[in-house]
Amino acid sequence: MPAPASPPPRLATRWISDAGGLRYHLTALRERDRAWRPFRQAVADWLAAWQPAARHLLLVGPSAGHTLPADWFARFDTVTAFEPDPIARWWLSRRLSGVPLHFDGRDVLAGPLPLADLAKARDDTAILFCNVLGQVRPAGGGSWHPVLRDVLAGRRWASYHDVVSTAQPPRPDAPEALQAGGDLESVLARFWRGGELALVDHETFRLDGQRAADYALWRLRPGQTHLVEWVAHPGADQSTGAAG
Ligand SMILES: C[S@@+](CC[C@H](N)C(=O)[O-])C[C@H]1O[C@@H](n2cnc3c(N)ncnc32)[C@H](O)[C@@H]1O
Repeated sequence: MPAPASPPPRLATRWISDAGGLRYHLTALRERDRAWRPFRQAVADWLAAWQPAARHLLLVGPSAGHTLPADWFARFDTVTAFEPDPIARWWLSRRLSGVPLHFDGRDVLAGPLPLADLAKARDDTAILFCNVLGQVRPAGGGSWHPVLRDVLAGRRWASYHDVVSTAQPPRPDAPEALQAGGDLESVLARFWRGGELALVDHETFRLDGQRAADYALWRLRPGQTHLVEWVAHPGADQSTGAAG
């Protein structure tokens, strides 16, 4: 007799974490309408241009939606969020009060087969990774590129994620956002002066293959700037409509 499948890992409650939590919310309160404004506009523009043929949305790591435009969610019949931070869950519910939002306690990024539970969602579902894939690694190590390619190839998904972060201020003439091809070094040169750049590489560059992608500066807090990438994966034709 085959061994019963092990239950999916559950999200551990996290009040404080490297990827979010209390300090993040305090920074958001302070910077949301100041230094974060151009980045929030870039996210709103990316989402406005993303029109997945889907009635259901899975949101991974939305926090309280500090960088998400609340009016964008109206097009979906249901929105399901995977978020371990209880403050974020409470705040997101308030922010999206008109949206049919509910929370799912599974940890879809963990376990031996990360993302596998997302791949089982019903066909008319889109998946949005909300600046989480640059902050959480796959359990087995390595980067998310092969996991996304192998597990979510046929799904409609999009992600914005940290590519690098640095204490070095961007060049004075840096754009807030642009679309760029080329390698990481050439993309960085559009935002920072040449020479030695001390940075953290979040290993997410070109998360959906080698074609050009969108980039924006996120001036997270004084002395810390992130370069964030946006990619949208079209998925395969999923018109069979099977429920999942
Ligand atoms: C940088 S924050 C996201 C910011 C958010 N997009 C916003 O608009 O403010 C990353 C989020 O990922 C969440 N997170 C961390 N591990 C996670 C996991 N395994 N599954 C889902 N979310 C996770 C954190 O709790 C945090 O809220």
